[in-house]
Amino acid sequence: MASVMNQPAKSPVAISATKLLINNRWINSASGKTFATVNPSTGEEICQVAEADAPDVEQAVRAARAAFDRGPWRKTMASERGRLLNKLADLIEKHADELAALEALDNGKPLAVAKAVDVAATVGCFRYFAGWADKVHGKTIPIDGDFFCYTRMEPVGVVGQIIPWNFPMLMAAWKLAPALATGNTVVMKPAEQTPLSALRIGELIVEAGFPEGVVNLLPGYGPTAGAAIANHMDVDKVAFTGSTEVGHLIMEAAAKSNLKRVTLELGGKSPNIVFADTDIDEAVEGAHFGLFFNHGQCCCAGSRVFVEEKIYDKFVEKSGARAKRRTVGDPFDPKTDQGPQVDSAQFDKVMGYIDSGRTQGAKLVCGGDRVGERGYFIQPTVFADVKDDMKIAQEEIFGPVMSIIPFKSADEVVDRANNTTYGLAAAVWTRDISKAHSIANSVRAGTVWVNCYNVLDTRAPFGGFKQSGIGRELGEYGLQQYTEIKTVTVKL
Ligand code: NAI
Ligand code: MG
Repeated sequence: MASVMNQPAKSPVAISATKLLINNRWINSASGKTFATVNPSTGEEICQVAEADAPDVEQAVRAARAAFDRGPWRKTMASERGRLLNKLADLIEKHADELAALEALDNGKPLAVAKAVDVAATVGCFRYFAGWADKVHGKTIPIDGDFFCYTRMEPVGVVGQIIPWNFPMLMAAWKLAPALATGNTVVMKPAEQTPLSALRIGELIVEAGFPEGVVNLLPGYGPTAGAAIANHMDVDKVAFTGSTEVGHLIMEAAAKSNLKRVTLELGGKSPNIVFADTDIDEAVEGAHFGLFFNHGQCCCAGSRVFVEEKIYDKFVEKSGARAKRRTVGDPFDPKTDQGPQVDSAQFDKVMGYIDSGRTQGAKLVCGGDRVGERGYFIQPTVFADVKDDMKIAQEEIFGPVMSIIPFKSADEVVDRANNTTYGLAAAVWTRDISKAHSIANSVRAGTVWVNCYNVLDTRAPFGGFKQSGIGRELGEYGLQQYTEIKTVTVKL
């Protein structure tokens, strides 16, 4: 059991894990340093967490290396890896209320959402990849000559995983589950804003019976602990989710060190295209959910809502009215739809974009201000008459700010939708099936939704074209990113 560094007096949930997890032991960082994780609803410290840096990365990589090269993990049967992952899923389910509360406290998302979405999808992700553990196999290949040739899908080795704060627990699951199912060992750095749920899952990993060194958790900052993982010569792969800017740094570090494999899931500026022949109320609701879900802190947020001219005015009016009905407040209040942004840096960034929308001449339909005096709450904000070259139409805002943009024809809107460095997701709303498929085929994005938004499922791959990333997570494609293919040829 992890020892607790400090227990806040009036925390809505007990906090048991605040240290580094290396070799199944909870330890202080080598430097002894700690950092505060902050409650975004109040701006106050929740507790101190051990701060990993390069020497801790060194120790964790050594533990992961030993577990991979010589430890019992190497010899653990595939079926047993699946059993352990299922056991972990059961433990997460058993502690669902507690984990949801940790997420609401540390990240600020509504408790009900944390439970229904984050915890449920985390459990589902571990179960799905548990099922794969003993179903990853190669082929026999009829090569020329008198040979027996076959392939094996082997684990990549020691995997570094660097995750963001918008879905702290779920992003841990998306990365841990396929890595462990395929027999890798892991050194993971949770985001500095939201380390608590991943650390609690670390306790459950130990409880489930994973051998020592298989999963190591290093809370800490990006330029220190994160960079040390990306640069390490003995890390075989790094999987990263976060900003495109840091994605470039990760790839550069991989190139300059050992050519470690890199998968990246980065930012987006996803177009959500609404045709006049759609059911307007469904599209308004879908666009609202597509942008405001998780306070706009989604890499796939539908942040450019293109609306066909014929229904444009009506759509703007209805979208403003819908955004005004969104309740912003305490994540622990069951009536809350939207809690605070994750931290003061994100709050300032989003408020800066709102200012730029105003000064560049977009029409503010609703919102635009902070909510309350403390914490990082922002009004659901809708801009209309947004132009393609405005900053709010070009850059990832990652906050509750919708931009509505008029368009005339299908051809024109495809070019404009694709006129971005990103390519993560897109959506189209229409009753015309050929128009829907034509848009789905021409938009350069890793995921396209037709008459729906944010439908993510553990079984379906997710990831980006262009600067939205490299590789895919989830589904069979996500699994493949955690294996190396070995060809074995035997002379007969
Ligand atoms: P970030 O990319 O800096 O942080 C994501 C993770 O990377 C964190 O764990 C962080 O500690 C780590 N990191 C930071 N610098 C690093 C480095 N040099 N080497 C290795 N790891 C490093 O993102 P940040 O600053 O939290 O947010 C900035 C913007 O990034 C957001 O406003 C949003 O636009 C975007 N973002 C996108 C996410 C996504 O889901 N694709 C998630 C989080 C942020
Ligand atoms: Mg950063």
